[in-house]
Amino acid sequence: MSTQSPPKLINLVRGWPAPSLLASELLSSAAQRVLSDPAIFVPALQYGPDPGYQPLREALAQWLGRHYGVKPDPERICISGGASQNLACILQSFTDPAYTRAVWMIAPCYHLACDIFKDSGFEGRLKAFPEDEEGVDLEALDESIRKLEAEQGEAQDAAYKDPGKFRKHYRHVIYVVPTCANPSGKTMSLARRSSLVKLARKYDALVVCDDVYDCLQWPVGGDLTPPSEWPPEMKLPRLCDIDLAMGQAKDDPRGFGYAVSNGSFSKLVGPGIRTGWVEGSPAFAYGVAQTGSTKSGGSPSELCAAMVAQLISSGELENYLEKIVRPALQKRHMLMMDAIYKHLTPLAVEVRESGLLGAKVYGGYFVWLTLKDGISAKVVADKALREENLIVGSGDMFQVHGDEERLNFDSAIRLTYSWESEEDIVEGVRRLGDVIRKVKETPRDSQQPARGERDDDGLKNFK
Ligand SMILES: Cc1ncc(COP(=O)(O)O)c(C=O)c1O
Repeated sequence: MSTQSPPKLINLVRGWPAPSLLASELLSSAAQRVLSDPAIFVPALQYGPDPGYQPLREALAQWLGRHYGVKPDPERICISGGASQNLACILQSFTDPAYTRAVWMIAPCYHLACDIFKDSGFEGRLKAFPEDEEGVDLEALDESIRKLEAEQGEAQDAAYKDPGKFRKHYRHVIYVVPTCANPSGKTMSLARRSSLVKLARKYDALVVCDDVYDCLQWPVGGDLTPPSEWPPEMKLPRLCDIDLAMGQAKDDPRGFGYAVSNGSFSKLVGPGIRTGWVEGSPAFAYGVAQTGSTKSGGSPSELCAAMVAQLISSGELENYLEKIVRPALQKRHMLMMDAIYKHLTPLAVEVRESGLLGAKVYGGYFVWLTLKDGISAKVVADKALREENLIVGSGDMFQVHGDEERLNFDSAIRLTYSWESEEDIVEGVRRLGDVIRKVKETPRDSQQPARGERDDDGLKNFK
């Protein structure tokens, strides 16, 4: 038996911000300000209005208005408990599993969204649709929806929820991460964004966009000084902006719209803050605020919302993102890419260099690798854990639950650069190279994943 102790655990699957990227000092001073002034803390510690803490709605409207070049309108914003919590609220308020036909998920997908859809009654009706280098494969999506509509027509059980005056039920939900996607790192082109909104209008679909990485982008290959002006390719309009610009559709008399943006402070301030926002039409924002659990308890995260409102209106958050968070992620990404070119590219591993086709920009937390010569990513991931104490996300994790056969990612691996230290990012990629080399040297028919062994502690809490 070997007496050698295993190498230090390196976790390249965990999609959390590194401890150094948690905004503890800013929050501490914001908390002081909030909790020492009764004019702020009394409303912040009470049940709040359904659409959320008003000063945060206003501060966000200004900030997002500047960032995306849209007219600030707090009525379009509802404060949430973060993107995950709010996805559940959207489904509770705007879908009925007896009426809503299916949830269409871009694949590879943000896997943890699958359970949120299942909890809302869509188990077995999550449908994977493909993307190409520009984003959503619209022809494939259009064809699949058209086919499903033709098969099912009106033959569906009567709806069992009454949406009432302030909400409606959509016939389809389309779930995407248009910018710096988790897990692919891809950013959808402007043309695809517009076409996707048009397609949603055609089929009465709601496009739910997790826009949680929009503010975390940087130019690739540049130095680490943040650009004073963001180039337009780093500020693509959200789908909800495009929907707004298209004007109210004639089939939508109450003006709910067809695209919503699910924003979050998790990756900007720290996930424990559990605060985010949703932006859509005023009717949609009001409707989601009518979700039962919100009406009963008031909007979620009222106290945290008051702290974040301080950080936005004082300009501290923007400054922190520009000076601390983006340069740190940019550097981590650069180090990971350099290590990939050195240790993985010679082993026929392909990596996406830019998030947006034709532009030199990247962002978010993730890099997506493709093993080009047919070896299984699951075999690699299992061996990495067993022999190198290295955790990586094999592509099968990101298949759409229940529709795995349609699109599988047997030869893909997701790596995260947000969590481990700079040194361990580089060391992790080096170890991955060793593992891939060993797998390549093993005869194909003896390459088997050691099933079951990956469900250990190291894999808990990975996103
Ligand atoms: C695409 C996507 N959506 C949602 C979340 C979770 O957001 P929140 O912490 O606001 O619930 C994540 C976190 O990894 C994510 O990558």
